[in-house]
Amino acid sequence: MIINTHFGEIPQSYLFSEVAERVRRFEQQQPDARVLRLGIGDVTRPLAPAVIGALHAAVDEQATTEGFQGYGPEAGYEFLREAIAAGEYGSIGVDVAPDEIFIGDGSKSDSANIQELFSETARVAVTDPVYPVYVDSNAMAGRLGSFDGERWTGLTYLPCDDANGYRPPLPAEPVELIYLCSPGNPTGTTMSRADLEEWVQYARRTGAVILFDVAYRAFITGDDVPRSIYEIEGADEVAIELGSFSKTAGFTGLRCSWTVVPKNLTRDGASLNAMWLRRQSTKFNGTPYIVQRAAEAVYSADGREQVQADVDYYLQNARLIRATLEQAGVSAVGGEHSPYVWFRCPSGMDSWAFFDVLLEQAQIVGTPGVGFGPTGAGHFRLSAFNTAEATREAAERLAKLLPTLV
Ligand code: MLT
Repeated sequence: MIINTHFGEIPQSYLFSEVAERVRRFEQQQPDARVLRLGIGDVTRPLAPAVIGALHAAVDEQATTEGFQGYGPEAGYEFLREAIAAGEYGSIGVDVAPDEIFIGDGSKSDSANIQELFSETARVAVTDPVYPVYVDSNAMAGRLGSFDGERWTGLTYLPCDDANGYRPPLPAEPVELIYLCSPGNPTGTTMSRADLEEWVQYARRTGAVILFDVAYRAFITGDDVPRSIYEIEGADEVAIELGSFSKTAGFTGLRCSWTVVPKNLTRDGASLNAMWLRRQSTKFNGTPYIVQRAAEAVYSADGREQVQADVDYYLQNARLIRATLEQAGVSAVGGEHSPYVWFRCPSGMDSWAFFDVLLEQAQIVGTPGVGFGPTGAGHFRLSAFNTAEATREAAERLAKLLPTLV
C-alpha cells in the first residue's frame, strides 16, 4: 500500500465543497433564480482603502532594485509581527513577543497544519459542532480511528447545544489536544473568562495543549468576552492561538494569518515554538511581502477605523438574521459577537432537508449543521457576510417562508 489509507476513511468531500456543488446543480436547473448566499463565511466588502494603499505601495516597491523582495523571513516580516504584538495583544494588556508570532497564509492552513507538532497517538478533543478542518486534518493524519458514518471512534466530542448553553464540557477521558474557538464557528457563541480559566486550569493539570482559534475575535463587542486566551494567567504554558485577517479585514482572497506559539510552551522537553519554526521553515516559504504590508496597514489609524466599519456592517446583518428568525419563533444563538447565527431547524427537520427547502423555496444558501459534527444534526448556520441589501432580501424571504414551516 503506497497511499495514505486514512483518506479512505474521511467523508468524500469537504463540507463547503459539498454545499457549493449542490448550489451549482440548483443554479444549473434554475438559471433565473436569484440565489442569496448565506453559506460559507466569505466576505463581500471590498478591502479597506488603507489596505489597498499599502498593497499598491508594496507592489511599486517590487519594481525597484532597493524595494524588491525575494524570499521573506521564515516566520514573517518583523514589521508585521511587531504590529500584531502591539495591535492584537499589547492593546488588550497581553504580553506576546514578536518572536512568538508566526505569519501564515490563513487560519485554515495553520489550524490544519499545527497537528503535525503532536504525536500520531495524541488524543484529540473538539467541541461539537466544530469547524471541520480541525477534524479532517487529524483524520488525514490517522489520529481519529475510524468513521462510523456519524462519529470518529478515536475522537473526543465535547457537545455544545442549548442544553448546556453552548459551553464545552471538560472531557470525560484523558485528552492531549483540545481545539477551542471563540467566538465559535459555527455556533457564534463565545467563551467567558470563567470558561477559559477552567480550560487553562484543566490543561495545566493534565499537560494537554489547547489550540485556541480567534479568527472571529474582531466581532467581539464590549469588554466582557475575552479576545485572547492569553488574557488568562498561565495560558502561555498551555495554549497556541490562531488569528486571521480573513474575516477581520476581508483577506479571504489575499490570505494572511498569525499563530502565537509562546516560548513558555514546552512538552516532553521540547519547545513548541522551535518546532513550529522548524516546520514552517521546511514546508512554507511565507506569505507574500505585499500581503504582509497590506496586513500591517490594518493597524494604522485609518486601517483600524475602516476595518471596524466593515465588521460593524456584518454585525448589523447578523442581528437582522437573528431577529428575523426569532420573530418567526425560531430561537437562535450567535450574531451578537459573531457573523454566524445558529439555530435548530424548524419542525424537527434534518439539516440537509432544511438546506434543500431553503434553497428551493427561498433561494437562500445556508450551511447544514450536521456538517459540523453529530451535535449539529438538525441545526443550521446562516452567515452575515453578504451585502446589507442581500441580507435584507434574505430576511424578507425567510420571514415569508418560516411561518409555513414552524
Ligand atoms: C466558514 O464558513 O466556516 C469559513 O468561511 C470557512 C473558513 O474560514 O475556512
